[in-house]
Amino acid sequence: MKILMVSAEVVPFAKTGGLADAVSALAIVLNKLGHDVRIVMPRYYKIDRSKLTPLEGPMGVPAGYVEAWTEVYTTIMPGTKNLPVYFIDHEQCFGRDGIYGTPTDTDFQDNPYRFSVLCHGAFQLCRKLDWYPDIVHAHDWSAALAPVLLKFVERYNGFDKTASVFTIHNLGYQGVYGKHNYPATGLDWNFFYAAGFEDWDRINFLKAGLTSANMLTTVSPTYAREIQTPMAGFRMDALLRHRSGDLVGILNGVDTEIWNPSKDKYLAENYSVGKLAGKAKDKAALQERMGLEVNPDIPLFGVVTRLADQKGVAEMFAPTYGSMYRICTEMKVQVVVLGAGEKWCEDELRTLESKLPNFKAYIGYDESLSHQIEAGCDFFLMPSRYEPCGLNQMYSLLYGTLPIVHRTGGLADTVENYNEATGDGTGFMFDELTPQSVFDTVGWAVYAWYNKPEHIKAMQKRAMKKDFSWESSAEKYLEVYKAALSRI
Ligand code: ADP
Ligand code: GLC
Repeated sequence: MKILMVSAEVVPFAKTGGLADAVSALAIVLNKLGHDVRIVMPRYYKIDRSKLTPLEGPMGVPAGYVEAWTEVYTTIMPGTKNLPVYFIDHEQCFGRDGIYGTPTDTDFQDNPYRFSVLCHGAFQLCRKLDWYPDIVHAHDWSAALAPVLLKFVERYNGFDKTASVFTIHNLGYQGVYGKHNYPATGLDWNFFYAAGFEDWDRINFLKAGLTSANMLTTVSPTYAREIQTPMAGFRMDALLRHRSGDLVGILNGVDTEIWNPSKDKYLAENYSVGKLAGKAKDKAALQERMGLEVNPDIPLFGVVTRLADQKGVAEMFAPTYGSMYRICTEMKVQVVVLGAGEKWCEDELRTLESKLPNFKAYIGYDESLSHQIEAGCDFFLMPSRYEPCGLNQMYSLLYGTLPIVHRTGGLADTVENYNEATGDGTGFMFDELTPQSVFDTVGWAVYAWYNKPEHIKAMQKRAMKKDFSWESSAEKYLEVYKAALSRI
Protein backbone atom coordinates (compact mmCIF):
# COMPACT_ATOMS: atom_id res chain seq x y z
CA MET A 1 0.00 0.00 0.00
CA LYS A 2 0.99 3.61 -0.51
CA ILE A 3 0.58 5.51 2.74
CA LEU A 4 1.20 9.18 3.49
CA MET A 5 1.53 10.10 7.18
CA VAL A 6 0.79 13.71 8.05
CA SER A 7 2.01 14.88 11.45
CA ALA A 8 3.26 17.99 13.22
CA GLU A 9 5.76 15.88 15.20
CA VAL A 10 7.99 13.04 14.09
CA VAL A 11 10.95 11.50 15.94
CA PRO A 12 13.90 12.23 15.54
CA PHE A 13 13.12 15.60 13.94
CA ALA A 14 10.62 17.27 16.29
CA LYS A 15 8.91 16.03 19.44
CA THR A 16 6.82 17.31 22.33
CA GLY A 17 5.42 13.91 23.39
CA GLY A 18 4.57 10.35 22.48
CA LEU A 19 2.84 11.39 19.25
CA ALA A 20 6.25 11.88 17.64
CA ASP A 21 7.45 8.43 18.77
CA ALA A 22 4.28 6.70 17.62
CA VAL A 23 4.19 8.21 14.12
CA SER A 24 7.73 7.31 13.17
CA ALA A 25 7.64 3.88 14.80
CA LEU A 26 4.46 2.96 12.93
CA ALA A 27 5.85 4.29 9.65
CA ILE A 28 9.05 2.30 10.12
CA VAL A 29 7.30 -1.04 10.72
CA LEU A 30 4.97 -0.51 7.77
CA ASN A 31 8.03 0.26 5.66
CA LYS A 32 9.70 -2.95 6.89
CA LEU A 33 6.56 -4.88 5.94
CA GLY A 34 7.14 -3.67 2.38
CA HIS A 35 4.68 -0.78 2.12
CA ASP A 36 5.48 2.51 0.42
CA VAL A 37 5.20 4.81 3.42
CA ARG A 38 6.14 8.47 3.35
CA ILE A 39 5.87 11.17 5.99
CA VAL A 40 5.21 14.88 5.62
CA MET A 41 5.83 17.43 8.37
CA PRO A 42 6.85 21.09 8.71
CA ARG A 43 10.49 22.15 8.50
CA TYR A 44 10.76 23.86 11.86
CA TYR A 45 13.50 26.34 12.48
CA LYS A 46 15.58 23.88 14.52
CA ILE A 47 15.61 21.24 11.77
CA ASP A 48 18.87 21.89 9.96
CA ARG A 49 18.28 22.40 6.24
CA SER A 50 21.89 21.70 5.39
CA LYS A 51 21.39 18.04 6.37
CA LEU A 52 18.41 17.67 4.00
CA THR A 53 18.05 17.49 0.24
CA PRO A 54 15.93 20.14 -1.47
CA LEU A 55 13.34 19.11 -4.04
CA GLU A 56 13.54 21.10 -7.22
CA GLY A 57 11.49 24.28 -7.53
CA PRO A 58 9.16 26.09 -5.18
CA MET A 59 5.78 24.62 -4.27
CA GLY A 60 2.69 26.84 -4.14
CA VAL A 61 0.28 25.86 -1.38
CA PRO A 62 -3.24 27.25 -1.69
CA ALA A 63 -3.97 27.44 2.03
CA GLY A 64 -6.31 30.30 2.99
CA TYR A 65 -5.75 34.05 2.57
CA VAL A 66 -2.82 33.94 0.16
CA GLU A 67 -0.99 31.16 -1.62
CA ALA A 68 2.02 30.12 0.45
CA TRP A 69 5.20 29.69 -1.59
CA THR A 70 7.10 26.89 0.09
CA GLU A 71 10.20 24.83 -0.48
CA VAL A 72 10.25 21.10 0.13
CA TYR A 73 13.20 19.27 1.66
CA THR A 74 13.60 15.55 2.10
CA THR A 75 15.68 12.92 3.81
CA ILE A 76 15.47 9.20 4.49
CA MET A 77 14.19 8.21 7.91
CA PRO A 78 17.15 7.01 10.01
CA GLY A 79 17.13 3.25 10.42
CA THR A 80 15.41 2.68 7.07
CA LYS A 81 16.64 2.42 3.50
CA ASN A 82 13.72 3.93 1.68
CA LEU A 83 11.27 5.77 3.91
CA PRO A 84 11.24 9.39 2.74
CA VAL A 85 10.38 12.20 5.12
CA TYR A 86 9.33 15.46 3.43
CA PHE A 87 9.61 18.80 5.16
CA ILE A 88 7.50 21.75 4.11
CA ASP A 89 9.61 24.84 4.52
CA HIS A 90 7.91 28.21 4.86
CA GLU A 91 9.81 30.84 6.73
CA GLN A 92 6.78 32.81 7.84
CA CYS A 93 4.94 29.78 9.21
CA PHE A 94 7.66 27.54 10.59
CA GLY A 95 10.82 29.61 10.82
CA ARG A 96 10.56 30.11 14.57
CA ASP A 97 11.14 28.23 17.81
CA GLY A 98 8.39 25.92 19.02
CA ILE A 99 6.04 23.48 17.35
CA TYR A 100 2.68 24.78 18.58
CA GLY A 101 3.98 27.63 20.71
CA THR A 102 6.71 28.60 23.14
CA PRO A 103 6.77 28.40 26.95
CA THR A 104 5.49 31.98 27.15
CA ASP A 105 3.18 31.91 24.12
CA THR A 106 1.76 28.41 24.39
CA ASP A 107 -0.42 28.56 21.29
CA PHE A 108 0.66 30.61 18.31
CA GLN A 109 -2.07 32.94 17.02
CA ASP A 110 -1.56 31.77 13.47
CA ASN A 111 -1.70 28.00 14.14
CA PRO A 112 -4.85 27.64 11.98
CA TYR A 113 -2.91 28.98 9.02
CA ARG A 114 0.35 27.16 9.86
CA PHE A 115 -1.29 23.75 10.00
CA SER A 116 -3.48 24.53 7.03
CA VAL A 117 -0.23 25.00 5.10
CA LEU A 118 0.91 21.58 6.34
CA CYS A 119 -2.31 19.83 5.25
CA HIS A 120 -2.78 21.58 1.91
CA GLY A 121 0.95 21.11 1.39
CA ALA A 122 0.57 17.34 1.84
CA PHE A 123 -1.67 17.13 -1.24
CA GLN A 124 0.43 19.55 -3.28
CA LEU A 125 3.46 17.44 -2.46
CA CYS A 126 1.78 14.30 -3.83
CA ARG A 127 1.01 16.17 -7.05
CA LYS A 128 4.56 17.40 -7.26
CA LEU A 129 5.87 13.85 -6.82
CA ASP A 130 3.15 12.42 -9.05
CA TRP A 131 2.58 9.93 -6.24
CA TYR A 132 -1.03 9.35 -5.20
CA PRO A 133 -1.31 7.39 -1.94
CA ASP A 134 -4.00 4.84 -1.11
CA ILE A 135 -4.16 6.23 2.40
CA VAL A 136 -3.68 9.65 3.93
CA HIS A 137 -3.10 8.98 7.62
CA ALA A 138 -3.41 12.13 9.72
CA HIS A 139 -2.42 12.38 13.38
CA ASP A 140 -4.01 14.66 15.98
CA TRP A 141 -5.73 18.03 15.51
CA SER A 142 -2.83 19.72 13.73
CA ALA A 143 -3.18 17.29 10.81
CA ALA A 144 -6.97 16.99 11.03
CA LEU A 145 -7.55 19.25 8.04
CA ALA A 146 -6.06 16.61 5.72
CA PRO A 147 -9.07 14.23 5.81
CA VAL A 148 -11.38 17.23 5.47
CA LEU A 149 -9.59 18.49 2.37
CA LEU A 150 -9.60 15.00 0.92
CA LYS A 151 -13.34 14.56 1.40
CA PHE A 152 -14.50 17.97 0.20
CA VAL A 153 -11.89 19.13 -2.31
CA GLU A 154 -9.10 16.75 -3.29
CA ARG A 155 -11.39 13.79 -3.94
CA TYR A 156 -12.43 15.69 -7.11
CA ASN A 157 -8.90 16.77 -7.86
CA GLY A 158 -7.07 13.53 -8.61
CA PHE A 159 -7.36 11.80 -5.24
CA ASP A 160 -10.43 9.79 -6.17
CA LYS A 161 -8.98 6.47 -4.96
CA THR A 162 -7.42 7.77 -1.74
CA ALA A 163 -9.00 7.09 1.67
CA SER A 164 -8.29 8.85 4.95
CA VAL A 165 -7.57 7.61 8.46
CA PHE A 166 -7.44 9.94 11.42
CA THR A 167 -5.71 8.89 14.64
CA ILE A 168 -6.58 10.47 17.97
CA HIS A 169 -3.46 10.52 20.13
CA ASN A 170 -5.03 12.88 22.61
CA LEU A 171 -8.61 14.14 22.56
CA GLY A 172 -7.73 16.90 25.01
CA TYR A 173 -6.09 19.02 22.31
CA GLN A 174 -8.61 20.02 19.65
CA GLY A 175 -7.38 23.16 17.91
CA VAL A 176 -10.31 25.42 18.77
CA TYR A 177 -10.10 28.99 17.42
CA GLY A 178 -12.32 31.98 16.76
CA LYS A 179 -14.48 31.69 13.69
CA HIS A 180 -12.65 34.57 12.01
CA ASN A 181 -9.81 32.05 11.47
CA TYR A 182 -11.92 29.91 9.16
CA PRO A 183 -10.53 31.50 5.95
CA ALA A 184 -7.13 30.08 6.97
CA THR A 185 -8.46 26.65 6.00
CA GLY A 186 -8.82 27.77 2.40
CA LEU A 187 -12.29 26.19 2.34
CA ASP A 188 -15.55 27.68 1.21
CA TRP A 189 -17.95 28.67 4.02
CA ASN A 190 -20.33 26.00 2.65
CA PHE A 191 -18.20 23.43 4.42
CA PHE A 192 -18.20 25.15 7.81
CA TYR A 193 -21.09 23.00 9.04
CA ALA A 194 -20.85 20.15 6.54
CA ALA A 195 -17.28 19.26 7.49
CA GLY A 196 -18.01 19.57 11.20
CA PHE A 197 -15.87 22.61 12.00
CA GLU A 198 -18.62 24.42 13.87
CA ASP A 199 -18.19 24.29 17.65
CA TRP A 200 -20.34 26.78 19.57
CA ASP A 201 -19.69 29.29 16.82
CA ARG A 202 -15.96 28.68 16.87
CA ILE A 203 -13.89 26.39 14.64
CA ASN A 204 -12.67 23.05 15.90
CA PHE A 205 -10.08 21.30 13.73
CA LEU A 206 -10.25 17.99 15.58
CA LYS A 207 -14.03 17.85 15.28
CA ALA A 208 -13.81 18.41 11.52
CA GLY A 209 -11.27 15.58 11.24
CA LEU A 210 -13.47 13.25 13.32
CA THR A 211 -16.44 14.10 11.12
CA SER A 212 -14.68 13.75 7.78
CA ALA A 213 -12.15 10.89 7.93
CA ASN A 214 -13.12 7.53 6.46
CA MET A 215 -11.83 5.65 9.52
CA LEU A 216 -10.88 6.78 13.01
CA THR A 217 -8.45 5.16 15.35
CA THR A 218 -7.12 5.86 18.79
CA VAL A 219 -4.14 4.46 20.61
CA SER A 220 -5.63 1.89 22.99
CA PRO A 221 -8.81 -0.22 23.11
CA THR A 222 -9.84 1.12 26.52
CA TYR A 223 -9.41 4.75 25.41
CA ALA A 224 -11.55 3.98 22.34
CA ARG A 225 -14.38 3.05 24.72
CA GLU A 226 -13.76 5.85 27.23
CA ILE A 227 -13.91 8.66 24.66
CA GLN A 228 -17.45 7.63 23.78
CA THR A 229 -18.57 8.63 27.29
CA PRO A 230 -19.22 12.18 28.58
CA MET A 231 -16.57 11.63 31.28
CA ALA A 232 -13.66 11.29 28.85
CA GLY A 233 -15.15 12.48 25.58
CA PHE A 234 -14.05 16.14 25.82
CA ARG A 235 -17.43 17.14 24.31
CA MET A 236 -16.83 14.85 21.32
CA ASP A 237 -18.46 11.77 22.86
CA ALA A 238 -21.75 12.04 20.96
CA LEU A 239 -19.93 12.43 17.65
CA LEU A 240 -17.69 9.48 18.53
CA ARG A 241 -20.66 7.32 19.48
CA HIS A 242 -22.23 8.26 16.17
CA ARG A 243 -19.03 7.08 14.45
CA SER A 244 -18.41 4.08 16.70
CA GLY A 245 -18.65 1.69 13.73
CA ASP A 246 -15.62 3.40 12.18
CA LEU A 247 -13.56 3.79 15.36
CA VAL A 248 -10.88 1.27 16.37
CA GLY A 249 -8.50 1.27 19.36
CA ILE A 250 -5.00 -0.02 18.53
CA LEU A 251 -2.35 -0.09 21.22
CA ASN A 252 0.93 1.67 20.43
CA GLY A 253 4.06 -0.43 20.48
CA VAL A 254 7.53 0.30 21.79
CA ASP A 255 10.55 0.91 19.60
CA THR A 256 12.77 -1.76 21.14
CA GLU A 257 15.82 -0.57 19.22
CA ILE A 258 15.76 2.53 21.44
CA TRP A 259 14.00 1.28 24.57
CA ASN A 260 15.77 -1.94 25.45
CA PRO A 261 17.74 -2.40 28.69
CA SER A 262 20.06 -4.94 27.06
CA LYS A 263 21.42 -2.40 24.55
CA ASP A 264 20.41 1.04 25.84
CA LYS A 265 23.42 3.28 25.24
CA TYR A 266 22.53 5.72 28.04
CA LEU A 267 22.90 3.18 30.85
CA ALA A 268 25.83 2.64 33.19
CA GLU A 269 25.28 -1.08 32.73
CA ASN A 270 23.05 -3.06 30.38
CA TYR A 271 20.87 -5.84 31.74
CA SER A 272 18.19 -8.32 30.76
CA VAL A 273 15.70 -10.60 32.42
CA GLY A 274 18.29 -13.36 32.77
CA LYS A 275 21.00 -10.95 33.95
CA LEU A 276 19.39 -8.53 36.34
CA ALA A 277 22.55 -7.58 38.24
CA GLY A 278 23.16 -4.62 35.94
CA LYS A 279 19.95 -2.98 37.12
CA ALA A 280 21.40 -2.57 40.62
CA LYS A 281 24.37 -0.72 39.13
CA ASP A 282 22.02 1.55 37.20
CA LYS A 283 20.18 2.29 40.44
CA ALA A 284 23.40 3.27 42.16
CA ALA A 285 24.44 5.41 39.17
CA LEU A 286 21.09 7.21 39.19
CA GLN A 287 21.21 7.80 42.95
CA GLU A 288 24.66 9.24 42.49
CA ARG A 289 23.77 11.41 39.48
CA MET A 290 20.76 12.88 41.32
CA GLY A 291 22.59 13.39 44.63
CA LEU A 292 20.60 10.81 46.59
CA GLU A 293 22.00 8.44 49.21
CA VAL A 294 23.44 5.47 47.30
CA ASN A 295 21.58 2.61 48.92
CA PRO A 296 20.16 -0.49 47.19
CA ASP A 297 17.64 -1.16 49.96
CA ILE A 298 15.55 2.01 49.74
CA PRO A 299 12.83 1.76 47.07
CA LEU A 300 13.43 4.36 44.38
CA PHE A 301 10.42 5.85 42.55
CA GLY A 302 10.69 7.62 39.19
CA VAL A 303 8.47 10.06 37.30
CA VAL A 304 9.10 11.20 33.70
CA THR A 305 6.37 13.39 32.35
CA ARG A 306 5.06 16.53 30.75
CA LEU A 307 3.99 18.62 33.74
CA ALA A 308 0.39 18.93 32.59
CA ASP A 309 -2.90 18.32 34.35
CA GLN A 310 -3.52 15.21 32.23
CA LYS A 311 -0.65 13.49 34.01
CA GLY A 312 -2.04 13.73 37.56
CA VAL A 313 0.64 16.23 38.57
CA ALA A 314 -1.72 18.13 40.90
CA GLU A 315 -2.47 14.96 42.85
CA MET A 316 1.27 14.44 43.28
CA PHE A 317 2.71 17.94 43.59
CA ALA A 318 0.03 20.57 44.38
CA PRO A 319 1.29 22.74 47.26
CA THR A 320 -1.39 22.02 49.83
CA TYR A 321 -3.03 18.72 49.00
CA GLY A 322 -0.53 16.90 46.73
CA SER A 323 0.62 13.55 48.07
CA MET A 324 4.37 13.84 47.41
CA TYR A 325 5.34 15.65 50.61
CA ARG A 326 3.61 12.98 52.69
CA ILE A 327 5.06 10.16 50.61
CA CYS A 328 8.59 11.45 51.15
CA THR A 329 8.19 12.19 54.84
CA GLU A 330 6.04 9.27 56.00
CA MET A 331 7.66 6.47 53.99
CA LYS A 332 11.23 5.30 53.64
CA VAL A 333 11.56 6.00 49.91
CA GLN A 334 13.47 8.04 47.38
CA VAL A 335 11.85 9.88 44.46
CA VAL A 336 13.30 11.34 41.23
CA VAL A 337 11.24 13.45 38.85
CA LEU A 338 12.08 14.52 35.32
CA GLY A 339 9.65 16.92 33.74
CA ALA A 340 8.90 20.26 32.17
CA GLY A 341 5.67 22.12 31.67
CA GLU A 342 3.30 24.18 33.79
CA LYS A 343 5.12 26.82 35.74
CA TRP A 344 3.38 26.32 39.10
CA CYS A 345 4.45 22.70 38.96
CA GLU A 346 8.07 23.42 38.06
CA ASP A 347 8.16 25.87 41.01
CA GLU A 348 6.64 23.33 43.36
CA LEU A 349 9.16 20.67 42.33
CA ARG A 350 11.95 23.06 43.27
CA THR A 351 10.28 23.77 46.61
CA LEU A 352 9.86 20.07 47.39
CA GLU A 353 13.49 19.47 46.49
CA SER A 354 14.62 22.18 48.87
CA LYS A 355 12.63 20.66 51.72
CA LEU A 356 13.19 16.93 51.20
CA PRO A 357 16.58 15.18 51.11
CA ASN A 358 15.04 12.10 49.48
CA PHE A 359 13.34 13.99 46.62
CA LYS A 360 15.19 15.18 43.52
CA ALA A 361 13.80 16.91 40.47
CA TYR A 362 15.34 17.73 37.11
CA ILE A 363 13.32 20.37 35.34
CA GLY A 364 13.76 20.27 31.61
CA TYR A 365 13.89 17.78 28.81
CA ASP A 366 16.65 15.19 29.01
CA GLU A 367 16.73 12.08 26.86
CA SER A 368 19.57 10.34 28.72
CA LEU A 369 18.06 10.92 32.15
CA SER A 370 14.70 9.57 30.99
CA HIS A 371 16.42 6.29 30.09
CA GLN A 372 18.41 6.24 33.32
CA ILE A 373 15.26 6.75 35.40
CA GLU A 374 13.51 3.90 33.61
CA ALA A 375 16.48 1.63 34.31
CA GLY A 376 17.59 2.80 37.74
CA CYS A 377 14.26 3.01 39.56
CA ASP A 378 12.35 0.22 41.25
CA PHE A 379 8.93 1.76 40.64
CA PHE A 380 7.52 4.22 38.11
CA LEU A 381 4.73 6.56 39.13
CA MET A 382 2.24 7.48 36.39
CA PRO A 383 -1.09 8.49 37.92
CA SER A 384 -2.50 10.09 34.73
CA ARG A 385 -6.02 11.53 34.94
CA TYR A 386 -6.52 10.09 31.46
CA GLU A 387 -4.01 8.36 29.19
CA PRO A 388 -4.79 7.54 25.55
CA CYS A 389 -1.96 5.01 25.48
CA GLY A 390 1.10 6.13 27.40
CA LEU A 391 4.57 5.02 26.51
CA ASN A 392 6.43 5.40 29.77
CA GLN A 393 4.55 2.65 31.59
CA MET A 394 5.48 0.28 28.75
CA TYR A 395 9.12 1.37 28.89
CA SER A 396 8.99 0.82 32.66
CA LEU A 397 7.65 -2.71 32.29
CA LEU A 398 10.38 -3.63 29.79
CA TYR A 399 12.99 -2.18 32.16
CA GLY A 400 11.64 -4.16 35.15
CA THR A 401 10.52 -0.95 36.88
CA LEU A 402 7.06 -1.64 38.24
CA PRO A 403 4.50 0.98 37.24
CA ILE A 404 2.02 2.52 39.67
CA VAL A 405 -0.90 3.70 37.59
CA HIS A 406 -4.49 4.90 37.47
CA ARG A 407 -6.73 2.30 35.84
CA THR A 408 -7.48 4.33 32.73
CA GLY A 409 -6.92 4.20 28.95
CA GLY A 410 -3.73 2.55 27.80
CA LEU A 411 -2.53 2.17 31.40
CA ALA A 412 -5.40 -0.25 32.04
CA ASP A 413 -4.54 -2.14 28.85
CA THR A 414 -0.85 -2.66 29.59
CA VAL A 415 -0.42 -3.05 33.36
CA GLU A 416 -1.77 -5.97 35.41
CA ASN A 417 -2.58 -5.22 39.01
CA TYR A 418 -0.63 -6.91 41.79
CA ASN A 419 -2.41 -9.73 43.58
CA GLU A 420 -1.04 -10.03 47.08
CA ALA A 421 -2.39 -13.55 47.58
CA THR A 422 -0.80 -15.07 44.48
CA GLY A 423 2.00 -12.62 43.69
CA ASP A 424 0.59 -12.14 40.18
CA GLY A 425 0.71 -8.86 38.31
CA THR A 426 3.13 -6.40 36.77
CA GLY A 427 2.28 -3.20 38.65
CA PHE A 428 0.04 -1.42 41.13
CA MET A 429 -3.28 0.21 40.21
CA PHE A 430 -5.94 2.40 41.72
CA ASP A 431 -9.42 3.09 40.40
CA GLU A 432 -10.01 6.73 41.23
CA LEU A 433 -7.42 9.47 41.01
CA THR A 434 -7.09 11.40 44.29
CA PRO A 435 -4.03 12.49 46.28
CA GLN A 436 -4.99 9.85 48.84
CA SER A 437 -5.18 7.03 46.26
CA VAL A 438 -1.72 7.97 44.97
CA PHE A 439 -0.41 7.96 48.54
CA ASP A 440 -2.08 4.64 49.37
CA THR A 441 -0.91 2.87 46.22
CA VAL A 442 2.68 4.04 46.66
CA GLY A 443 2.31 2.77 50.25
CA TRP A 444 1.10 -0.59 48.95
CA ALA A 445 4.13 -0.89 46.68
CA VAL A 446 6.47 0.10 49.53
CA TYR A 447 4.84 -2.53 51.74
CA ALA A 448 5.42 -5.19 49.07
CA TRP A 449 9.04 -4.02 48.60
CA TYR A 450 9.90 -4.46 52.27
CA ASN A 451 7.69 -7.45 53.05
CA LYS A 452 7.28 -9.47 49.83
CA PRO A 453 10.58 -9.12 48.00
CA GLU A 454 10.02 -12.45 46.24
CA HIS A 455 6.79 -11.08 44.73
CA ILE A 456 8.57 -7.93 43.52
CA LYS A 457 11.31 -9.98 41.85
CA ALA A 458 8.81 -12.24 40.09
CA MET A 459 6.76 -9.24 38.95
CA GLN A 460 9.88 -7.58 37.52
CA LYS A 461 10.69 -10.65 35.47
CA ARG A 462 7.12 -11.00 34.29
CA ALA A 463 7.05 -7.33 33.27
CA MET A 464 10.32 -7.56 31.35
CA LYS A 465 8.99 -10.44 29.27
CA LYS A 466 6.02 -8.44 27.98
CA ASP A 467 5.80 -8.08 24.23
CA PHE A 468 4.95 -4.57 23.05
CA SER A 469 6.29 -4.91 19.54
CA TRP A 470 4.88 -2.68 16.82
CA GLU A 471 4.45 -5.56 14.37
CA SER A 472 1.09 -6.75 15.67
CA SER A 473 -0.22 -3.17 15.90
CA ALA A 474 0.90 -2.49 12.33
CA GLU A 475 -1.15 -5.45 11.12
CA LYS A 476 -4.19 -3.92 12.79
CA TYR A 477 -3.55 -0.57 11.07
CA LEU A 478 -3.43 -2.38 7.74
CA GLU A 479 -6.90 -3.78 8.48
CA VAL A 480 -8.08 -0.24 9.23
CA TYR A 481 -6.59 1.00 5.94
CA LYS A 482 -8.55 -1.66 4.08
CA ALA A 483 -11.72 -0.68 5.93
CA ALA A 484 -11.10 2.98 5.01
CA LEU A 485 -10.68 2.10 1.33
CA SER A 486 -13.96 0.19 1.40
CA ARG A 487 -15.71 3.33 2.69
CA ILE A 488 -14.77 5.73 -0.15
P1 ADP B 1 2.52 12.08 26.24
O1 ADP B 1 2.71 11.92 24.79
O2 ADP B 1 1.10 12.30 26.64
O3 ADP B 1 3.42 13.10 26.85
P2 ADP B 1 3.63 9.38 26.44
O4 ADP B 1 3.85 8.52 27.62
O5 ADP B 1 2.94 8.78 25.29
O6 ADP B 1 2.90 10.68 26.95
O7 ADP B 1 5.02 9.86 25.85
C1 ADP B 1 5.89 10.71 26.52
C2 ADP B 1 7.23 10.65 25.84
O8 ADP B 1 7.95 11.85 26.13
C3 ADP B 1 8.09 9.51 26.32
O9 ADP B 1 8.93 9.09 25.28
C4 ADP B 1 8.88 10.18 27.46
O10 ADP B 1 10.07 9.51 27.75
C5 ADP B 1 9.11 11.54 26.90
N1 ADP B 1 9.28 12.62 27.89
C6 ADP B 1 8.32 13.30 28.55
N2 ADP B 1 8.86 14.26 29.33
C7 ADP B 1 10.19 14.17 29.18
C8 ADP B 1 11.32 14.89 29.72
N3 ADP B 1 11.16 15.90 30.57
N4 ADP B 1 12.56 14.52 29.33
C9 ADP B 1 12.73 13.50 28.45
N5 ADP B 1 11.73 12.79 27.91
C10 ADP B 1 10.47 13.12 28.27
C1 GLC C 1 -0.47 11.29 23.28
C2 GLC C 1 -1.03 10.64 24.54
C3 GLC C 1 -0.26 9.42 24.98
C4 GLC C 1 0.09 8.53 23.79
C5 GLC C 1 0.80 9.34 22.71
C6 GLC C 1 1.18 8.52 21.50
O1 GLC C 1 0.51 12.22 23.52
O2 GLC C 1 -1.14 11.57 25.61
O3 GLC C 1 -1.03 8.68 25.91
O4 GLC C 1 0.92 7.48 24.21
O5 GLC C 1 -0.04 10.37 22.29
O6 GLC C 1 0.07 7.93 20.87
